[in-house]
Amino acid sequence: MEQYNRKLIRSFGQHEYMYEPCSECERCLSLVKSRKLVTGGFGKVPCKIMFVGEAPGQAGCNITGIPFTRDRSGRYFQLCLQQARFNFEEVYTTNICKCSPPGNRNPDDKEIENCLPYLKNEIKWVKPEIVVCLGRVASKIFLGTNSFSVIADEGSIQPSGVEWFKGKVIVMPHPAYILRKGKEESKRYMDEFKLIFNMWLAARKIDTKITDERWEF
Ligand code: URA
Repeated sequence: MEQYNRKLIRSFGQHEYMYEPCSECERCLSLVKSRKLVTGGFGKVPCKIMFVGEAPGQAGCNITGIPFTRDRSGRYFQLCLQQARFNFEEVYTTNICKCSPPGNRNPDDKEIENCLPYLKNEIKWVKPEIVVCLGRVASKIFLGTNSFSVIADEGSIQPSGVEWFKGKVIVMPHPAYILRKGKEESKRYMDEFKLIFNMWLAARKIDTKITDERWEF
């Protein structure tokens, strides 16, 4: 497993890092059976922006061990990054749950709870100021509530609802959801990524903590 990851990391360049402490995890017995590779986070460390998905897709990062690679939603997410001028290697991407649930079902509450210590460690390690939540599962964790709608609140910048992350949370629908919608939805979604890119640029330039509720460009 590690060999495969390292090979890919080398091909991406010298300044990227993979979060691997969970690579031998056996906390969720059913996921140990359904997974091929444990998928740690991937990207620059430290990094002011972190993208957080739900769980590895069975045919995607479950095979590569790198988030949002190989399957349709992974490729689409990478396209959104590219169109917005993000470099996959220059941001940090991870998932709430590091193992692929059978049949691509959502991770359940116990699985999320078991995996949360890894995410908290990644937050300490990567030190993001902006976390972009891709889908309801990630948004619920970072907002610390169920009272939101990923559709109605798309692109909104919100305060973190958890004490272990002090930055801003951006709520976004999951790329797999947008893929099921038409071209117009996709265009709007990509435009949101462009706004997020500008916000990230500003955060990097100012090199200071983000404190404003809203950003205007
Ligand atoms: N690939 C990921 O890494 N995460 C998802 O949520 C979906 C696909």
